[in-house]
Amino acid sequence: MEALKGIKVLDFTHVQSGPTCTQLLAWFGADVIKVERPGSGDPTRAQLVDVPEADSLYFTMLNHNKRSLTLNTKNETGKQVLERLVAKCDVLVENFAPGAMERMGFGWEQIQKINPRMIMASVKGFGPGPYEDCKVYENVAQCAGGAASTTGFIDGPPTVTGAQIGDSGTGLHLALGIVTALFHRQNTGKGQRVLAAMQDSVINLCRVKLRDQQRLAAGPLEEYSQHGEGIEFGDTTPRAGNDSGGGQPGRILKCKGWDKDPNAYTYFITQAAAWPNICTAIGKTGWIEDPEYATPKARLTKLNEVFGAIEDWTMTKTKYEVMQICNPLDIPVGPILSMKEISEEKSLRETGTIVKVEHPERGPYLTVGCPVKLSASPAEVKRSPLLGEHNEEILKNVLGYEGPELQSIIDSGAIG
Ligand code: COA
Repeated sequence: MEALKGIKVLDFTHVQSGPTCTQLLAWFGADVIKVERPGSGDPTRAQLVDVPEADSLYFTMLNHNKRSLTLNTKNETGKQVLERLVAKCDVLVENFAPGAMERMGFGWEQIQKINPRMIMASVKGFGPGPYEDCKVYENVAQCAGGAASTTGFIDGPPTVTGAQIGDSGTGLHLALGIVTALFHRQNTGKGQRVLAAMQDSVINLCRVKLRDQQRLAAGPLEEYSQHGEGIEFGDTTPRAGNDSGGGQPGRILKCKGWDKDPNAYTYFITQAAAWPNICTAIGKTGWIEDPEYATPKARLTKLNEVFGAIEDWTMTKTKYEVMQICNPLDIPVGPILSMKEISEEKSLRETGTIVKVEHPERGPYLTVGCPVKLSASPAEVKRSPLLGEHNEEILKNVLGYEGPELQSIIDSGAIG
């Protein structure tokens, strides 16, 4: 059975962060009603369009399993419909710019008056403080959350990552907050406000870098490559290239074909316990007992030499061969997979992590499935809704409008 069956979500989200959250709730079985501006809807419907006249992949891939209702919430009738929606739903999720809900007349105070059981969940760029009024997008959050200052190479500029930790990362955090608040409501009968700030979410994901910031007070960060290279540390966590975040040195190394294929690389971790196996695999058995190489501490100043020797070996193998050889030897490695390879990977299709969906305007397309698998509540990915596709059924079946009252809503232009 769907785990969140019976939970109604008033989904006021747009772009990526909020929609990530409500898509997860929808995958877990909540009835997610996406309220959109008549005529245009979520701006991403028309962003990065690849098929003319069809909803973009940006939109479709973030709005599966939802229903769409168009509603002008600035029109008087629209406000009345919204009020009824607030009364009927369990959760309201929004990621408007700060103050937009209040300007609309639906701030937390008003929401509580209409429905004291309502959980009102918001994504904002920043929490309370000097930047709380700012509008924020993905890369702003990555920079303000400490990720960019610690990503990239020591001799290069701060770098953002392709993983959307600011938007999708915050959406994940918010979804957990909502489910937790639903639990709380079960015990108390009361709703509550849930806030996930993008800066806070990125900081949460960067905690190992805050760890290193404090370790600097006790001396250089010995597991960082720059230590072995004799480069002094400053007073803040530096960019660490492809060094691993844990205590075990790791790097990205070239594999066979690297000169033609930009992704013919492997991640390779010189885990202490696997050292004899690593030495044997790469033909450096003398290093197993040699005190200059035998201990992790001794190796710290020789990481360039050690990884150079390992790379001489990985360059003779494909990234998949490296994986096949190293896995049985308990040597942690991982091929650098391209998006093309991921989209073609059979096992990811079999688990439903990547799925093919049919869409009436654009035909078949690939998308991500639910990354969290529940044994009793499997998530089936259903296509995203067309703009206003469910207007009538929501007005009638969820909100109970009929006859002349329904007609007057339609005539008012509130739903477009
Ligand atoms: N009917 C009528 N008006 C509607 C509406 C509807 N159905 N839906 C939205 N609106 C209005 C809002 O009320 C708001 O009006 P106001 O500014 O007059 O109060 C307006 O549309 C625009 O909303 P806003 O959120 O300010 O959009 P924006 O395009 O200017 O900013 C963001 C976009 C993402 C920068 C901003 O929403 C934001 O900072 N959100 C929080 C952080 C976030 O989620 N960022 C990541 C997005 S992936």
